[in-house]
This record gives sequence, structure tokens and C-alpha cells, in this order.
Amino acid sequence: MTKRLILGQTLSFAGDPFHEPLSEVARHERRGAVLVEDGRIAAIGPADDLRAAHPQAEITDHGDALITAGFVDAHAHYPQTAMIASWGKRLIDWLNSYTFPEEMRFADADYAAEIAARYFDLTLSNGTTTVCSYCTIHPESVDAFFAEAQRRGLRALAGKTCMDRNAPEGLRDTPARAYDESKALLKTWHGVDRLSYVITPRFSPTSTPEQLEAMGALWAEFPDCPMQTHLSEQTDEIAWVKDLFPDARDYLDTYETFGLLGGRGLYGHAIHLEPRERDRLREVDAALIHCPTSNTFIGSGIFDMAGLMAAGQRVGLATDTGGGSSFSMLRTMAAAYEIGQLNGSALHPAQLYWLATQGSARALRLDDRIGNLAPGMDADLVVLDLASTPAIAQRAARADDLWEALFPTIMMGDDRAVQAVYVGGAPVGTA
Ligand code: GUN
Ligand code: ZN
Repeated sequence: MTKRLILGQTLSFAGDPFHEPLSEVARHERRGAVLVEDGRIAAIGPADDLRAAHPQAEITDHGDALITAGFVDAHAHYPQTAMIASWGKRLIDWLNSYTFPEEMRFADADYAAEIAARYFDLTLSNGTTTVCSYCTIHPESVDAFFAEAQRRGLRALAGKTCMDRNAPEGLRDTPARAYDESKALLKTWHGVDRLSYVITPRFSPTSTPEQLEAMGALWAEFPDCPMQTHLSEQTDEIAWVKDLFPDARDYLDTYETFGLLGGRGLYGHAIHLEPRERDRLREVDAALIHCPTSNTFIGSGIFDMAGLMAAGQRVGLATDTGGGSSFSMLRTMAAAYEIGQLNGSALHPAQLYWLATQGSARALRLDDRIGNLAPGMDADLVVLDLASTPAIAQRAARADDLWEALFPTIMMGDDRAVQAVYVGGAPVGTA
């Protein structure tokens, strides 16, 4: 098998920079290399050492660019690609005005395939090598997503978005159909190549108790599947949940009652949490997915990253396209930084970068496969030019260390900073 040596600066993590000293967790090699073999990382280390040890390897030299694990987007809606940046509404209005009409179009398998291809072009050109996406109610939308991911050799996660109330005709199923169609899709796609099926009730307002119960039963049958949903995003939404589920102790209880709270649960947003909700999420070691560009764009609120991290919650980072306003995890890190500042804590560039790679991989419970540079991990990589625009270049030129050199790209970078992307060790064309 061909060995490939990819040269540049390398950055990997030996631990979590929220809980361990930076000097112990960040591994930076000024002139480093990643050895790739059979789609996996075989070794990482100083370029000179690896070149000497593997003289027959094919060499790609990225010079001064920074090689890291590809970005992991832990919550996105690929069907919302074509209506991203729709103006002027808050969550419920935004769903009814823009999102649901667009999602109706995915009954057409050709349209679903077209958007899936467009979506992966956009995510890959932004350096994102794994996404965990919602699809629509239509099984065709799930097939389109997984077929496109499979064609590109990607690790990817997704599921049919189940709704049986408070959505228009054409976007509603029933408890039985949600169960049957989800199960059939799960059996078709889960564990095939690098694909994982995610059980996906959209959120409590669009599911009857009977549908939530059916989803809980499906999860109990397939406990190794992740389950994704939305939780406590906006205060109006929380008030609506209270009306719809008068007996529930809180929003999380509407999931917990029906078997939809667990360690493989992915709870998008989780902004306005009650103390009981925080405690339960922590006890079961569920993942909270922070979607900062979405939270500012739809006006949802301030996620308490510092407090939740200090309490030992499992947190991932995500775009939430198209409620989020970007396909870029760089832009997403910048927004997480800005929200942290509004909340009184400046996240370190190492923490931001860890969240966008290993943190999200941990949330998805895939950190043994993706999200870091280490032997045995999938060779899904991004290579960043840390001087991709004049504004970034002039600031990075003043930097005294890696973090000062990287932070301008985090704050001001976009797809122009993505010099190369590798999926399973093979380079993909970038925009
Ligand atoms: N809550 C329920 N559905 C959605 C969605 O599509 N986007 C966001 N941001 N929140 C939701
Ligand atoms: Zn979402």
C-alpha cells in the first residue's frame, strides 16, 4: 500500500484544554509530518524523523501551513443549505416561514441529491470532514445524504427528521411511520462504510407524546445509535413546550419521560437550562451541542460554555446550518469566542480549536476515530494557510507563538484559509 507523508506544521491534542494545562495537552510541531497508510494515520512526528524512517513514502509538502484533524460539525441541517441567511425571524416564525417550505422540496429525490452534493462541496471546501446532520421527514432525503457521503468516502451521521404535529401537511408522519421508516433507514445505512444512523425526533413541539414514545422504543432497540434533537433554544419555544406538555417538570423531561435521554443523546443548543436539566444531562453524560452562529442569528441567547465545561458536561460545536449563518467551523469558533466574551470568559484558541475537532468528536462518541492526529485515527485532515488574506497575514506576521498565529485565522478566516483537505488519506479538491 502507498504511504503518504504530509508535511507542514502539525497540531494535535493529548488532552482537553478546558481541564488540563495547555502546556501538557497541545502538541505543536513547527516542521512536522503525518504518515498516512490505508486511509489511517500511521504516525505523526518531526518531518525529518519520519522522512528518514519512510524514505519510500510519497511526499506532499504544505510548507508553513498548519495540518490538523478535519473539522467535525456536530449539528447541521443539510436540507437548509439553499435557505441559509433568511432574514428577520425568530425560531418558530423562521421554521414556518423559511424552513418548512424548503424541507417540503425533499420529497423529490433528485432535488435531495442535488442539495446533498452542494452541501458536501461547501462543507469540504471549509475543511469539515465529518458532519452530523438532520435530514427531512422524507426517507429520500436520508438516502441522498448517505449516498453522497459514501461516494466521497466520508465519515458522516444523519437521520430522518420525525414530526407528527405542528408542521404543515406533507412534513408530518405518524408515530408508526416514524418508527418504521427510521428503522428501515437505520438497517440500510448504520455501520455501512463510515456512516452512522442517528435517531432524530426534531423537537418536542413537533412530536406527539406517542411519537416521542415510539422514538424512545427505537432507541432502546438500537442503543448504539446516537439520538439527536433540540433542547431549550429560545424562551418562546420553552413556553410552548410547557403548554404542550403540562405535566413535564421541564423541557428535558419531555424527552426523559419517553426514553429519549441517554449518553448517546445529542441535545442541540441547550441554552436556557434549569438546574435539574443540567444535573440530569451531566449524570447521563449526554452531549450538549453549541451552535453559536445560529444562537446570534436567530437571537436565541447566550450558551454558558465556561459554566457547563467547569461542571464537566460533554460539549460539541456546530454550525446548525441554515439556522446558523455559515458553513465554516472557523466562523463558528469565532462566534463561540464572541459569545464567551459576552458571557465574561475569553475562550483560548486551543479550546476553540479543540471544540471544533476533538470536542465534537467526543460529543459524537467518535473520538477514537476522528478529531485528532494520532496513530490509528482516520486520516481526515485539514491544512490551513495561516496567512490567507492580507488582513490575516499582517496580523499573523506579528505572532510570537502558534496561538497568536492561529487566532487571526479563527477570527477572520473562511474557506480561503483551507489550503487542502484529506479524506481517508486522499486529497480532495478544494474551492
Ligand atoms: N428547532 C427545531 N427545528 C430546528 C431547526 O431546524 N433549526 C433550529 N435552529 N432549531 C430548531
Ligand atoms: Zn438544529
